Amino acid sequence: MKNIIISPSILSADFANLERDIKTVEKYGADWLHIDVMDGHFVPNITIGVPVVKSIKAVASIPLDVHLMIENPEKYIEPFAKAGASILTFHYEAAEDKVEEIVKLIKSFGVKAGLSIKPKTPPESILKYMPVLDMVLVMTVEPGFGGQKFMPDCAKKIPVIKKHAPENLIIQVDGGINEETAGVCTDYGANSLVAGNYIYKSADIKSAIESLR
Ligand code: DX5
Ligand code: ZN
Repeated sequence: MKNIIISPSILSADFANLERDIKTVEKYGADWLHIDVMDGHFVPNITIGVPVVKSIKAVASIPLDVHLMIENPEKYIEPFAKAGASILTFHYEAAEDKVEEIVKLIKSFGVKAGLSIKPKTPPESILKYMPVLDMVLVMTVEPGFGGQKFMPDCAKKIPVIKKHAPENLIIQVDGGINEETAGVCTDYGANSLVAGNYIYKSADIKSAIESLR
């Protein structure tokens, strides 16, 4: 068993039974809860906003890992931090020259800061930010929807990041993660796995979570 942070994505849960679906993954050992925030601009889908994160915070007992797939992330850091995020991950493609400023803002609320890259963004573009980050999220699908197919070439970015990363940097992958692709990513050096469909659409959620470790 590897020491991996498992973060089930509630995008694949039943939104009419969110509390039940959160308790289920908590019971079976999920470490974090991955919450996908989409704005219909940065990605072609709209999902969860601040009020929902606040309600989730009231019922969840594990840290909220909030993945912001939004334009102008700096505008929404404070509300998501105050709603109860433990880690806020924003996209390099939505921030570009404002990365350091946004990381500082996130940390000013006592929240951990993550930076994510889409499939077409080379890892070299974010290497200089490593020292100030708590986590790098390597997208292994185009962000926007759950249930897509894992892109193996994206996972090849992991060793590049790992080589330049401070020892305690968390390297997370998100998109198309299942028992098999999880192994590919952890072999490359990822230590946090997001999984939506693989966990929530499984008939045996307990075994699905365990199989990722
Ligand atoms: C996609 C989201 C993912 C998504 C993963 O844009 O960032 O977190 O929920 O879903 P699966 O694991 O089904 O690919
Ligand atoms: Zn995500």
